[in-house]
Amino acid sequence: MKIFIDSADIEEINDVFSWGVGDGVTTNPSLIKKAVEKHVGIDLKSYIKKILRTSGDSPVSLEVTKTTAEEMISEAKKLYDLFEESGNVNIKVPVNPAFEDGDNTHFDGIKVLQELKKSNIPTNATLIFTPEQALLAAKAGADYISPFAGRIDDHLRKSAGLSFEKTDYFPRKGMSNGQGLLHDEGIVSGVHLVEECVDILEKHGYGSEVIAASLRNTRQVREAALVGAHIATIPYDVIKDMLKHPKTFEGMVSFTKDVVKEYEDLK
Ligand code: G3P
Repeated sequence: MKIFIDSADIEEINDVFSWGVGDGVTTNPSLIKKAVEKHVGIDLKSYIKKILRTSGDSPVSLEVTKTTAEEMISEAKKLYDLFEESGNVNIKVPVNPAFEDGDNTHFDGIKVLQELKKSNIPTNATLIFTPEQALLAAKAGADYISPFAGRIDDHLRKSAGLSFEKTDYFPRKGMSNGQGLLHDEGIVSGVHLVEECVDILEKHGYGSEVIAASLRNTRQVREAALVGAHIATIPYDVIKDMLKHPKTFEGMVSFTKDVVKEYEDLK
């Protein structure tokens, strides 16, 4: 499974690539906002170019912010033209940019994915919450499909009136409310959503890669890997947590205390 960092913070991206574990970067408007607020006064164009350079050949997603097909296509082409010389930019497109039912823009994301495919612009279909959305996005030619695991878990817990912290573990096999498993149209957890997206795309031979997104803890990363996610996009702190264990720290204390001089002096 490839590891992308879910961040627009250059220091975080730099660290992850310097550790040799970064295979890509995903950003979204909220992550860009966070970076702009942290690095007051930055020239955003140069800043994004720096992110693209830091990532080497690895893909970096930049998201469109408009909400109609026409505007999204023009924004996507602008972003691609601005940054394509780096050779590693792809455009993130919401699978369905409508704000509510009744809005007639439901298929605009799908239209954009197809249009960008025709223009050879790589895409990442985002805000995927059902396997059906993943299927349509893959059919439209998206290179990456991003199911939002953590947000489905939030949705399930919230609908059941449970209180929880954002980083709390949610079991892959689901959670019961006493009357049966909580589910959203049969989806019992974020990792289950990822699993079904992978299964459907592989079963039907779509080449799109599934990016398990909105991951909040290390156990969710492990489970995304176990269900065959091609990629996990992971926040910086969670990537760091992946290497921590109290027994590893404890082992380091005892092993470093026990080093004998004879061993150090080996020639
Ligand atoms: O990649 C999507 C991600 O940034 C959303 O994460 O934790 O805000 O649901 P989160």
